[in-house]
Amino acid sequence: MPEQIAFLNGDFLPLEEAKISTQDRGFLFGDGIYEVIPVFQKKLFQLDAHLDRLRKSLTAISMQDPYSDEQWKALLNDLVNRHPWNDQFIYLQVTRGIQWVRDHTPDKDLTPTIYAYCNPLKPVSESILQNGIKIVTLEDIRWLRCDIKATTLLPNVMMKIAAKEQGADDAILIGRDGQISEGTASNVFIVKDEVLLTPPLSDRILPGITRMIIEKIANDHSIKVIEQTLTLADLEAADEIWLTSSTKDALPVCLLNNAPVGSGKPGPIWLKMQSYFAQAKHSLMQAEH
Ligand code: PDD
Repeated sequence: MPEQIAFLNGDFLPLEEAKISTQDRGFLFGDGIYEVIPVFQKKLFQLDAHLDRLRKSLTAISMQDPYSDEQWKALLNDLVNRHPWNDQFIYLQVTRGIQWVRDHTPDKDLTPTIYAYCNPLKPVSESILQNGIKIVTLEDIRWLRCDIKATTLLPNVMMKIAAKEQGADDAILIGRDGQISEGTASNVFIVKDEVLLTPPLSDRILPGITRMIIEKIANDHSIKVIEQTLTLADLEAADEIWLTSSTKDALPVCLLNNAPVGSGKPGPIWLKMQSYFAQAKHSLMQAEH
């Protein structure tokens, strides 16, 4: 692995030298938010949308964005260019900062901790492209502000562990009222009779950037999209199920609770979406850069 560089509070430094205080509220309270931004051919993808969501998350937790868009753009591009990989993803986190006396109430005028680093973005494996992934459904044990991209991911981690323990790759989460929310780190789409269905935006799901792009691509190619609440019965009757995220695009789900989804192989609409997505990436990148 080539040397990884971190950005921490205005400085670039080797990742292993990046250190934060034990008194950081991000460490003690999970008091912070994050973003994951994909980079293709060294170019940040959908940066404006990610910065917009970052700002919404900060506003939701009563924090101000520490930087302007121009400052973010400059520092994130700088960080990306310090690494050799063409395709990467940036992890970016802002916490409320250091507080010396324990108090749930944050002190006024804390200095936020701003941290970012990059990882190589690996292509999805050939086996997944051919055979899809295995999913189980689990009760969504999270809070009611899943629209905030909060660093407090303990429930997501617990649900991911539970999915793996059941021999699955991931889980689709179902609220106590039977409504599907999303994956542990992705949004959910189903295809039924060539129509794309996905749960509407609410406080139960993250407003995924990939979700937004997929809806736009579908509209551009006359694939009907309906945002509606979905249940386990909808998943079981689906022709196709996809999980979408910035690091994986759309992953086909071929086994749901040990039963095949549709034909049991990645479906025809997913195959079309794969090539539309690659084209859209290309044209969106050209428009952005
Ligand atoms: N997660 N829902 C959840 C709970 C997520 O954590 C993510 C992404 C998404 C998809 O959002 P987007 O399309 O903007 O990546 C939906 C990132 C990749 C992560 O936590 O690593």
